[in-house]
Amino acid sequence: MFDPKIIQKDFPHLKRTINGKRIVYLDSTATSLKPQQVIDKENEYYTKYTANVFRGIYTTSEEATAEYEKAREITAKFIGAASSDEIVFTRNTSESINLVAYSFMLDVWASGDRVLTTIMEHHSNFVPWQQLGSGRGIDVDIWYTDKNGLLDMKALEKLVTKKTKLVAVTAASNVLGTINPIKEIVRTVKHLNPKCLVLIDAAQAVPHMSVDVGDWGADFVAFSSHKMLGPTGIGVLWGRRDLLEDMKPFNYGGDMISEVHIDRTVFKKAPHKFEAGTPHIAGVIGFGAAVEYLTALGMEHVRAHEQELVTYAIEQFSQVEGLDFVGPKRADLRGGVFACFMKQAHPHDIAQLLNEDNIFIRAGNHCAMPLHDYLHVASTARASFYIYTTKADIDMLVEGLLKVQKIFS
Ligand code: ALA
Repeated sequence: MFDPKIIQKDFPHLKRTINGKRIVYLDSTATSLKPQQVIDKENEYYTKYTANVFRGIYTTSEEATAEYEKAREITAKFIGAASSDEIVFTRNTSESINLVAYSFMLDVWASGDRVLTTIMEHHSNFVPWQQLGSGRGIDVDIWYTDKNGLLDMKALEKLVTKKTKLVAVTAASNVLGTINPIKEIVRTVKHLNPKCLVLIDAAQAVPHMSVDVGDWGADFVAFSSHKMLGPTGIGVLWGRRDLLEDMKPFNYGGDMISEVHIDRTVFKKAPHKFEAGTPHIAGVIGFGAAVEYLTALGMEHVRAHEQELVTYAIEQFSQVEGLDFVGPKRADLRGGVFACFMKQAHPHDIAQLLNEDNIFIRAGNHCAMPLHDYLHVASTARASFYIYTTKADIDMLVEGLLKVQKIFS
């Protein structure tokens, strides 16, 4: 049985009170809270088998290596990867995307090639293409959303040309909440240009719904541990094995090599050639526990709970006069993230006033400035939900928003 009230008991953060009041955490899109099971697993490494991985021939080093690689296997299974060798551990989604950008933009693509991305991207799936492309003659094309915050599939047919080397698209927007039809997008891109690669920013998708990379059919999928109950400082890049084998390493240094001589170096195979230096061992092991936690809950239940909250929130928001949110109005087309604006109050004022009642939301442009420019809003006040969010939390939010409305009207 999926019950957020029982789930809440696993999260020590939610037991905290500030000024005698409980915390209503509505910023899981920025980072999720961590259950005790993840904290304990990370501690287990520090208390029981602290040692470097892949280097020692003694018991604790072998234990640490086994736990580290077990996390890779658990992650591979969680997203339907064919093999754990397709999972590269990075620092975060941004680094996963940079790895692909550096590899292809520096070494493979040439002047005149193009990248297609969307207006709803997080900066992490826009700035690497913009920055590495400029000066190399590689331009970035933008796929704009319609007035409902949805991508128009007909428009895609005009945007992908023979010059398009990569389509970089988010699976779920961290502002609009829009869930994009990734399988259909990949199929259309590959039909228009079979050589074009597709990279999915799944930072807001993998934590919230069942993802099967094989079913999506993309070439790269990037996401982060910290948005799915795991530690900060761990990201994942899933890549098609043949592509990972051909790609040049992103970082050079310790452990990613099999031979080094004065005049040449032979790298390890993927994924290890991409993991230079001592990794965030405790973080990866803790991340494995986070994936196990979500697996035990069942991602279909995670998504169903979110849809219930989204439906409820849309109903309740209508009580607050002057309040609106960006993105689709239909619960089945969106995730549990509401970037709101109010005629009467600035987003930062909304966030500050809610903070007085320990209701934590994020205000700003949410690392999606081009989208905010496109929507003609400087910033929004964003509330986002996760597995521990209850309808009572949404009631508190609405009560807080009504207070804000009263103060400003
Ligand atoms: N990507 C995170 C957010 O949207 C930080 O808030």
